[in-house]
Amino acid sequence: MALYLGLDSSTQSLSALIIDTEPGKIVGEYSVNFGEDLPQYGCPHGVLPHDDPLVQHSDPRLWAAALEHLFALMRADGAPLCRIRGISGSGQQHGTVYLGKPMEAILAAHASLPDAVASGLSRPTAPIWMDSSTTAECREIHAALGGEQTVRQRSGSSATERFSGPQIRRFAKTDPAGYRATRTIHLVSSFMASLLLGSDAPIDLADAAGMNLLNLQSGEWDADLLAATAPDLRAKLPALVPSTSIIGTLGPHLAERFGFASDVALVAWSGDNPNSLIGTGGWRPGTAVISLGTSDTFFAAMSTPAVDPQGYGHVFGNPAGGFMCLICFKNGSLAREHVKQIHGLTWRQFDIDAFEQTPPGNNGNLMLPYFAPEITPLVLEPGVHRRGSQEFVAGIDAAADVRALVEAQALSMRIHAEWIGECPKRLRVTGGASRSPGICQVLADVFDAPIERLAGSGNSAALGAALRAANRVGGHSWDDLTAMFCHCDPQRTAAPVPGRAAVYAALMERYRKLENEVLGRK
Ligand code: XUL
Repeated sequence: MALYLGLDSSTQSLSALIIDTEPGKIVGEYSVNFGEDLPQYGCPHGVLPHDDPLVQHSDPRLWAAALEHLFALMRADGAPLCRIRGISGSGQQHGTVYLGKPMEAILAAHASLPDAVASGLSRPTAPIWMDSSTTAECREIHAALGGEQTVRQRSGSSATERFSGPQIRRFAKTDPAGYRATRTIHLVSSFMASLLLGSDAPIDLADAAGMNLLNLQSGEWDADLLAATAPDLRAKLPALVPSTSIIGTLGPHLAERFGFASDVALVAWSGDNPNSLIGTGGWRPGTAVISLGTSDTFFAAMSTPAVDPQGYGHVFGNPAGGFMCLICFKNGSLAREHVKQIHGLTWRQFDIDAFEQTPPGNNGNLMLPYFAPEITPLVLEPGVHRRGSQEFVAGIDAAADVRALVEAQALSMRIHAEWIGECPKRLRVTGGASRSPGICQVLADVFDAPIERLAGSGNSAALGAALRAANRVGGHSWDDLTAMFCHCDPQRTAAPVPGRAAVYAALMERYRKLENEVLGRK
């Protein structure tokens, strides 16, 4: 039966996931780790070392090499490449790749993809989403548009350090000759799609929303944002297409070499978060997804577009139609590991015992958990703020500390997701910490909604890409695909306990007040 391939070009690896829609099964998963498998590119964690910690770039040759390596690995393993009917992909969002020639000419220069790419780069490195060297450019873009509010209203986000527009502006300012020599600026997603297609691929609307260049209302490049970013920018940007577009077929340079059919349809690539929205089954408004990882993220489909008046959240496109929000909290696992470590706890003591030893609401003990600088809300100087009993404020009550941290993370998510305008009816959790019964119960009680833990492949971005290929090429509906592939673990659900919603509604107002007080807001 027909198979579909989803590729995920993330920060540290390139992964592939093959699905079969007839029995609704994942039939193959492969991955190339940039640091381990391609050490010659000197990007141990997918990032080039740099003296300035704010500068975080990667090497586009590495991404091209990973694609060749991955396909070779799959073929050597006997993956049924000849039965794949459609391919789509996912790229880390915001990163930009600068090419001096059309992709056809680049690929004609060398048989090896990394050598070909090397011959075509007008900027040797690609700034990625971890880069935060563009604060001045963000300010300049805000000023040119008459304020941050306007940038946010038009593009769905305030000008943000890691976004593409500010990255492009910095390049145009610091290397005007390199910028002039640039013919095309790709996102990671459209760059990878171009390597498959054999010519310059368009950018899909969902990922384009992470650039500070797209007008969300019109679905077109915003002339004022382009002008505020860099000269002649429109001519350097690829075309825009809806995420469900077929952009062509897999080029013969790869199809013949690796044994794919000659007519494999390529569906536009998108960003990793829009793909994950599909891969977690969160594409329909009402279900929000919480990914508990190094950072915690909250994302959800939106029934009506809105922007965060405080400027922390982002709006991207939903590949299934409409928009999605994304809110990122830096103090996720980082903060959980810190609290576990300072109290010398085991994970069992953190995930279960601490919650049995303390009541919801934590006897009034409340924490603002800025162990590291925070994105939401913006906190540049780290600091942990405690209010409550003497022992708690002294930081020596381990169980209270654990509950305070987890309640703070959940309350902060709920407060900073209010701008979306609707409280989710259910939450799907994924990521390492989603295994914690204590964390899941607090989330259920704070949001007053059932929690479902996603089962199956941990790679929701690659799965989302495969599902998008199956939707567009195979004609499978989003509902059918979700039912087939986005399973939750029935052993790991948590329901809100009656009575706790009131406890947390009161605590939420205390938390909001404390946050305002500490951040010096009225
Ligand atoms: C989202 C973001 C990251 C990247 C890399 O705004 O910066 O999630 O997409 O995963």
